[in-house]
Amino acid sequence: MGTEALSLEEVSIRLGQSLILDGISLQVPAGSFTCLLGPSGCGKTTLLRAIAGFAPLSAGDITVGGRSISNLAPEARQTAMVFQSYALWPHMTVAGNLTYPLKLRGLSKVERDRRAEAILSLLGLEGYGPRAVISLSGGQRQRVALGRALIIDPPLLLLDEPLSNLDASIRRSLRGELRRLQQKVGITTIMVTHDQDEALAMADRIVLMRQGRIVQVASPEALYSAPADLEVAHFLGVDNVVDLRPGDPVAAGGALAGFRTADARVFTGEAPAGLDAVLVRAGTVTACAYAGGSYHVSIDLSDQAGNESLSGASGAALSALSSVPVAPGTRARLSVPAPMLMSFGADSRLLQGIRQ
Ligand SMILES: Nc1ncnc2c1ncn2[C@@H]1O[C@H](COP(=O)(O)OP(=O)(O)OP(=O)(O)O)[C@@H](O)[C@H]1O
Ligand SMILES: [Mg+2]
Repeated sequence: MGTEALSLEEVSIRLGQSLILDGISLQVPAGSFTCLLGPSGCGKTTLLRAIAGFAPLSAGDITVGGRSISNLAPEARQTAMVFQSYALWPHMTVAGNLTYPLKLRGLSKVERDRRAEAILSLLGLEGYGPRAVISLSGGQRQRVALGRALIIDPPLLLLDEPLSNLDASIRRSLRGELRRLQQKVGITTIMVTHDQDEALAMADRIVLMRQGRIVQVASPEALYSAPADLEVAHFLGVDNVVDLRPGDPVAAGGALAGFRTADARVFTGEAPAGLDAVLVRAGTVTACAYAGGSYHVSIDLSDQAGNESLSGASGAALSALSSVPVAPGTRARLSVPAPMLMSFGADSRLLQGIRQ
């Protein structure tokens, strides 16, 4: 299989008055797996369509293996794109679906059958060739869609939320399968997803987009522990934000701290030992729900003496875990170990990430 590096240089797409992609520059190493992550409407699908040749560039250049493809028609680019809805032909067999792109390219029946066998074996679907696609499960159909994309031996594989139509357990197992398949074939792959867990589990690198721009490019580990700003942090599951106070265990200069619910604990009685290395806030419990193994507790800080006036929305409602249920109305405190705190400046940009 041919596998190529992809490069985007200052790619912009303007549609009418709106700038859908705004100066996107990105280097994608050959054989790597990149996830595009970002809120709905930020331009993820448009970026894939631009690479595949379905969305003409207003400015910039795209190269594959060092050659510009910006002016090539989609067929000439040979990139393979797989969508959320598998778009298989329901009246054809599995083999018929797989070999259709080869038929269009004029390959002989013998060669088509040979490649179909190889792809079925790669997908773990040996013997499925003669089956009607409508007799397959959702996960199997999506594997066939993937096979149909790979059978043309494309230089790039573009996946637009390929797993989002599947239910949670199939999705998780297909996640691993897809990643193994990609590594086996060694194909340069870009996948769009809404799902941060999916991106963290699968990608070599994650590209975080916002409003047609790239905000951050990082490994899953780096993005998780050091998101570029509060909005990215929120996207990566940092669901609590508080105003910093003197004495909080973070480096000087921060205005806000963020942390994940799973890293915060609730206590009601005596303070546990070693509290100088944690951030503590007091408040009133507003809700407590069992979350499997522990309780998810919501705490309202806004009406408590001892909390300075809180600026804006930050810090009024927090959540943390407790090993025992805590009744709503109870006064409680929440603690977060210093290494699990992220600090942000008043401009909401990251000053310090978590230190695990
Ligand atoms: N053909 C078009 N004409 C005008 N605007 C468009 C067109 N296609 C997309 N857009 C707009 O471009 C922006 C980006 O759309 P895009 O589909 O790339 O977003 P996305 O990140 O894939 O979102 P989602 O996560 O919802 O799939 C959106 O605001 C969308 O409304
Ligand atoms: Mg999309």
